[in-house]
Amino acid sequence: MKQVSEIQSLIKRRKAAQKTGTIAFVPTMGAFHEGHLSLIRKAKAECDFVIVSLFVNPLQFGSSEDLAVYPRTLSEDRQQAAAAGADLLWTPGESTLFPSGFQTTIDVGEISRPWEGDARPGHFQGVATIVAKFLQVVQPDRLYLGQKDYQQVCVIRRMIADLHFETEVRVLPIIREKDGLAMSSRNCRLSSHDRAIAPVLHQALRQAEKIVRQGEGRAEKILNAVTATLASTPRIEVEYVALCDPINLEAIENLEKEGVLLIAVKLASVRLIDNVFLSGLLRE
Ligand code: PAJ
Repeated sequence: MKQVSEIQSLIKRRKAAQKTGTIAFVPTMGAFHEGHLSLIRKAKAECDFVIVSLFVNPLQFGSSEDLAVYPRTLSEDRQQAAAAGADLLWTPGESTLFPSGFQTTIDVGEISRPWEGDARPGHFQGVATIVAKFLQVVQPDRLYLGQKDYQQVCVIRRMIADLHFETEVRVLPIIREKDGLAMSSRNCRLSSHDRAIAPVLHQALRQAEKIVRQGEGRAEKILNAVTATLASTPRIEVEYVALCDPINLEAIENLEKEGVLLIAVKLASVRLIDNVFLSGLLRE
């Protein structure tokens, strides 16, 4: 696996690879865990040349957020990316991506406003801007994203359609720890006490699945049950619990059609998000 930083070196290698096969792209902010590695492995299984970007994007962090303490583990990441099948690791510097005078941003509309968009103003503008820049230079046949950040998937899909990027989006399942906690680069910032509390997010999602399987399709009932479980857990501060249409992310009132349940909480200073599709369970 090669590692490059400069955009021109990236483009040179991408062009060479494009002549002989398909290109997969896995954008990341590093501190790899099995979630990231599952994307890289799948990308390698489906495409000829896998480009992984590693860049902690300042544009997507609010001023009171955790940019300064975001974990940075480049040498371990390099080894793990290579072992998972990456062909090229792109580690651009800030000055490479934001040349002096940089002033173009991408603002995806309605779909980026609720939930994470509301809790983290400016976040999706930062994500969309950096991903658009990446797609412009990487020009991948396939883009690999995790369902873990479900609204991010929706925002990026919308942008790809709206701006006519020619890339197919592949969304892969959430990888979890044994106790159900969704893997996240932020989990290492939980104290051991809080780490023991964190699986309650997954328990709340499982509870929702159970209620729906028993025949409950009303959003109000599902949301009340999930919120009660989370809110009664010490140290958990609920940011939002939402049952939404999986395409436009608008809140829905019942599960007659498709539905995805999104949750976000704060546990001490660490934000945790998780989600599950509830579609189909009502009729099982
Ligand atoms: P990052 O948080 O590093 O995540 C990189 C990719 O890994 C995303 O597509 C994310 O959804 C996926 N991922 C994270 N945890 C996962 C898990 N437990 N299971 C499966 N996939 C998981 O998301 C970003 O970086 C940034 O916003 C980025 C898209 C790189 C733009 O800066």
